[in-house]
Amino acid sequence: MSLLLEPYTLRHLTLPNRIVVSPMCQYSAVDGLANDWHLVHLGSRAVGGAGLVFTEATAVTAQGRITAQDLGLWDDAQIPPLQRITRFITAQGAVPGIQLAHAGRKASTHRPWLGKHGSVKVEDGGWTPVGPSPIAFDPEHAKPTELNKAQIDDIIQAFVEAAHRALKAGFKVVEVHAAHGYLLHQFLSPLSNQRRDEYGSCFENRIRLTLQVTEAVREVWPEELPVFVRLSATDWVEDGWNPDETVELAKRLRALGVDLIDVSSGGTSVHAEIPVGPGYQTRFAERIRVESRIPTGAVGMITDSMQAEHILRQPQADLIFLARELLRDPYWPLHADEDLQPGLKAIWPAQYQRATHREQPIHESDLRDPA
Ligand SMILES: Cc1cc2nc3c(=O)[nH]c(=O)nc-3n(C[C@H](O)[C@H](O)[C@H](O)COP(=O)(O)O)c2cc1C
Repeated sequence: MSLLLEPYTLRHLTLPNRIVVSPMCQYSAVDGLANDWHLVHLGSRAVGGAGLVFTEATAVTAQGRITAQDLGLWDDAQIPPLQRITRFITAQGAVPGIQLAHAGRKASTHRPWLGKHGSVKVEDGGWTPVGPSPIAFDPEHAKPTELNKAQIDDIIQAFVEAAHRALKAGFKVVEVHAAHGYLLHQFLSPLSNQRRDEYGSCFENRIRLTLQVTEAVREVWPEELPVFVRLSATDWVEDGWNPDETVELAKRLRALGVDLIDVSSGGTSVHAEIPVGPGYQTRFAERIRVESRIPTGAVGMITDSMQAEHILRQPQADLIFLARELLRDPYWPLHADEDLQPGLKAIWPAQYQRATHREQPIHESDLRDPA
């Protein structure tokens, strides 16, 4: 029996398998509203057999969007189109998850495929980003305005309100995005945080906002449902945020009731030298799992079903997050099922049975999405 295809339970929620659609920005929303693209994009991955389907980084305020085309959840009007998506994902037997985010100093940028680096200027429809300190990400990015205490409180509240809305929209897992050089990570890293108040300088102060946001989200997220946090385990830069600090932070997050750390890396500095290669971040997931005693998700150049199975069997992680490979092949989980459990019945949607060379009668009650 394959571990990758086995169900996994956190609190009262059981995922049908351990394959997760990693959050992926689509830069395709207008006014933060999900549309047909998001339904088909996320819906296809649910049809393809992933156990947990995460939305892209969904902004908790308009100012916290990476681009003007990001999904958002700062307004009640943004709930119904997401509801349509969670309904479809759930009908496929998968679990809908949402990543909540604020981009901080990396907000107001161009959609990546336009090939324009840096900030969109205010006169071109952009906005001035905010951050822990007035330090730009790089020379092409705008210098952010330093957040004061009242503005920090507002952002914590925005995460709480977005979590409330996410619940109404039908999501079962919420992930706080504290990685990739976005706002919470900007507070964690001494490269971007040079504050002298209770949010800066020492480790205890730099982790304060991530802990406050997570605690506040955990408080409003139902007891029976899990909360994840995505962390960058390292900045990959001397004197940046490092793996020892991540291990310590993960312990604190576990104490707050976080159920899983989704372990990524990088994003704060353009000078990072990242040894990108198959499973290059997995060792951090393993270290946090062992030393912080909390379940982890592994992500980063995991492309092969045997590789994924191996990571779980070591065990280096508890869930496998896939991003680009699921863009290339939304049916990756169904193929993995065929690779890892030959002879067992892969749960293809009934509508696609004829593609499997295993046409067997399907009982109406086994239909994924009973009509
Ligand atoms: C198109 C695209 C959009 C992404 N958007 C997000 C995002 O919204 N939030 C996030 O935490 N990571 C985002 N990522 C990073 C992925 O979730 C993942 O961590 C990274 O791509 C490494 O996994 P992979 O090698 O399987 O692609 C994005 C990646 C891609 C390719």
